[in-house]
Amino acid sequence: MDTPAFHQGGDTALGFEWPGEDVSRVPFQVYTDQAIYDAEQARIFQGPTWNLLCVEAEIPNPGDYRTSYVGNAPVIVNRDETGRINALLNRCAHKGSLVCYKPHGNVRELTCVYHNWVYDLTGKLTGVAFKRGVGGKGGLSDDFDITQHGLRRLRVETYKGIVFGTFSDETPDFVDYIGGELAASIDRVMIKPLKVLGYHSQILPNNWKLYSENTKDSYHASLLHVFHNTFGIVRPSMGGGIKLSPNGWHHLSWTERVALEDQATTREKVRSLKDQYKLADPTMMAHKLELGDLVTNSIQSVFPGTVIQQIQNCLAVRQLVPRGVDKSELIWTILGFEDDDAEMIEHRLKTNNLVGPAGFISMEDGCVGGWVQQAAQSDPAGRTVMPMGGRTIEPSQGSRVTESAVRGFWKAWRECMHI
Ligand code: FES
Ligand SMILES: [Fe+2]
Repeated sequence: MDTPAFHQGGDTALGFEWPGEDVSRVPFQVYTDQAIYDAEQARIFQGPTWNLLCVEAEIPNPGDYRTSYVGNAPVIVNRDETGRINALLNRCAHKGSLVCYKPHGNVRELTCVYHNWVYDLTGKLTGVAFKRGVGGKGGLSDDFDITQHGLRRLRVETYKGIVFGTFSDETPDFVDYIGGELAASIDRVMIKPLKVLGYHSQILPNNWKLYSENTKDSYHASLLHVFHNTFGIVRPSMGGGIKLSPNGWHHLSWTERVALEDQATTREKVRSLKDQYKLADPTMMAHKLELGDLVTNSIQSVFPGTVIQQIQNCLAVRQLVPRGVDKSELIWTILGFEDDDAEMIEHRLKTNNLVGPAGFISMEDGCVGGWVQQAAQSDPAGRTVMPMGGRTIEPSQGSRVTESAVRGFWKAWRECMHI
């Protein structure tokens, strides 16, 4: 894709100026400022970005729908009678009520409960209650054009069974958006039709961007997550690296059971509790090789708030929903393949104990963002510093000790925000 012009400097309407030229220092203000948060909704989430809506397997039949979000905008995703997937802003054209207030269901049409305006599954307004009034009195004004008041439609693309939506006509097609190399890494994991095994949802006590950064921050994985070193999913001595989309916006961090030739990294002291802790049920850590390689951990981000995850046999997509400047919601959809047998489903559900709000690995990520948020709130004029792996935005083969992908996030943020 063409990279949008990188606007230098500030935004007078927001009263905000990016300090310096590069993206290795981030002002705390971006995590606390309401005006910036509001601008992000328009410029990022409703701007030229693809956002996770659901997986196709959640809406297999005509009439199936589920509700979702793009940023703070509520969205309905459905499959219509032609089999096509529609994504509609979940906001009645009349007075703005939610049209679908249940998380999922199957319907022939969409009826707003407030005054019973009715839409078809493509979002077209097809009925208005009392449109001719009652007893010849009341009714719609003569100039009301029913064709002009449907539900706002989003563009939709499905990639390997994962459904994405965008509000913008300018967003490149999905594969161009993430680049061929990162598309291939989705192909690597999503090798068969998907099946939903369950969900986690958790409220994070921090601005959404702190979680987006966390998923791109491969530097912390073997340091913060003691479970990794103790039980061997990610260790600094393992092979792997970081891939970035050509524009730096999206990333993949992976680890594989292939020792690095350069063993210097193993001299780094990382916390491990292997002498103190044993798993009562070690079968949880069995890795059934199913993807044709020895990759133990593959965490892939799609800017701004989507994560596609393979941790051994634990597959998931994660959706990040901003809930205010200092709060966000993380929704995990836990996946398997349609043809999994009962034993494989049981195994995936066991490994799923690694993730989610109380996950043996993921629980720390639900905490550290809140600690940074506290710092940001107490000192919005302060700044973080991210010098690991230099100041540039480059892929890395072998080492994951880099903040390159996090700097890539801030490049994307600045380009979307025109800051
Ligand atoms: S708000 Fe939906 S019908 Fe009035
Ligand atoms: Fe983490």
